[in-house]
Amino acid sequence: MSKSWKPSLLVLLAAVLLSTTRLSLAQSSYDEPWRPQFHFTPAKNFMNDPNGLVYYKGEYHLFYQHNPQGNVWGHMSWGHAVSTDMVHWRHLPLAIAEEEGKFMIYSGSAVVDWRNSSGLCEGRDKEDRSCLIAIYTAAGKDLQTQHLAYSNDRGRTWTNYLGNPIVDLKEPDFRDPKIFWYAPEKKWVMVAVLADERKLMIFDSPNLKDWKLLSSFGPAGDSAGQWECPDLFELPVEGTKEKKWVLIVNRNPGAPAGGTGTKYFVGWFDGLQFKNEKPASQELWADYGKDFYATNTFADLRAGDGRKIWMGWISNWQYANVEPTVQWRGAQSIPRTLGLRRFPDGIRLIQQPVREMKTLRGKEFHLENVSVAEANRRIKEAGIPGDTVEIQAELMPENSDEMGFRVRKGGAQETLVGISRRQKSVFIDRNKAGELSYSKEAGGRHSGQVQQASRVKLQIFVDRSSVEIFANDGEVTLTDRIYPLEHSVGIEVYSLNGNGKIKSLSIWKLDSMWK
Ligand code: FRU
Repeated sequence: MSKSWKPSLLVLLAAVLLSTTRLSLAQSSYDEPWRPQFHFTPAKNFMNDPNGLVYYKGEYHLFYQHNPQGNVWGHMSWGHAVSTDMVHWRHLPLAIAEEEGKFMIYSGSAVVDWRNSSGLCEGRDKEDRSCLIAIYTAAGKDLQTQHLAYSNDRGRTWTNYLGNPIVDLKEPDFRDPKIFWYAPEKKWVMVAVLADERKLMIFDSPNLKDWKLLSSFGPAGDSAGQWECPDLFELPVEGTKEKKWVLIVNRNPGAPAGGTGTKYFVGWFDGLQFKNEKPASQELWADYGKDFYATNTFADLRAGDGRKIWMGWISNWQYANVEPTVQWRGAQSIPRTLGLRRFPDGIRLIQQPVREMKTLRGKEFHLENVSVAEANRRIKEAGIPGDTVEIQAELMPENSDEMGFRVRKGGAQETLVGISRRQKSVFIDRNKAGELSYSKEAGGRHSGQVQQASRVKLQIFVDRSSVEIFANDGEVTLTDRIYPLEHSVGIEVYSLNGNGKIKSLSIWKLDSMWK
């Protein structure tokens, strides 16, 4: 007995040790200095675009472009995570894997087939006959076609449709299908791009399997680069009964901050074609930072929700493969609620963080009507570690040239988030943000125009390796990745060449979504 007892105890001990090391490894990896705490990241390996965002039976699904084998782009497959609030995510096993040697699984979308129009739903749930349908690009060496996969177990396992491809234009660059239900004609609509021709192709279908080409749109003044990840949806104009259609085209390269970015057109869609209301020469961009790309909107949000919400990948193809994280690479933005607002020079897309983000807030630090010096004295006294915080402020630059915050500050390291009074703009300056050697594009000051700069509201989310700002309740957004030292956690207010005033300031420490 004692003979067999000794080894088994040893085995037991070893097993306990191993599992605790594994656990602490997993935990410490989520606690890495550059691991975002409230932005989704893959547990390991490379991630780019969000794909197939859909809400179904109590869960938000986030699929994403994923290399399950390494930390640079390749072997593209759909990774998968679920959430009950779009804030706390839980990793699930790979959803759709590449067919090695044949094709990779590129970007696409997912919908709930509520009425089993596809005939692929097995009606496993008593309450209805619905199932999840994903439509993605099968990217071969010389050909890109659209494929369908379906899931009858709430997205846990996926079966590729035997009739694939469902759309084949015999083109090498035909990709990124986004599907939606067009209620006025009770039909499905697909938008996808001919990337190199900068052309949007619009199709319709009664059953998600048979698609008919209706029309095309583009290149709308773009003479170089690619169009990727399109989207098309209707939004109300804030404060009115009016609605407009918005066409999203992710553009590679050519964005205002250089490299990749998200462009949009405002107009109308009549079930057949999209018409841009503005002259093609008028370029509209969804984000003025360097790192917001390949957006995807959620399908089938809970009945009565009424919001249109999207996420974007917070990176840039200029350096996506070399950002200085090791075990994992790539992050998704905070989910953002979309709207339209009328400004003197036209209707613009506005974005705000989803209200669910408030659940991460700790105690509020609050000040009103204070000078820069007074605010800094009080912030210092409060000692809020600024590695994962939300800052909301209303700033009045007064006679100063520039006013804003120094975040992730430590020694000479700092990222500036501010308002330029002269240029009437809001900006992120990451020239002294920290690690910059991974790319010549890693620094830079990125800015977006605001209507007026004398009194500006800033909502700033600082995570371990990103800064995301929403100015004037979504008038302008900017997103940048930053790689500061772990201990650079200072927050300061500044105003340059003059005395700016702080109308109000709130700071919340944000909790980690991984807890
Ligand atoms: C956008 C993109 C898509 C493509 C995917 C491949 O970032 O290039 O056009 O489907 O990434 O990973």
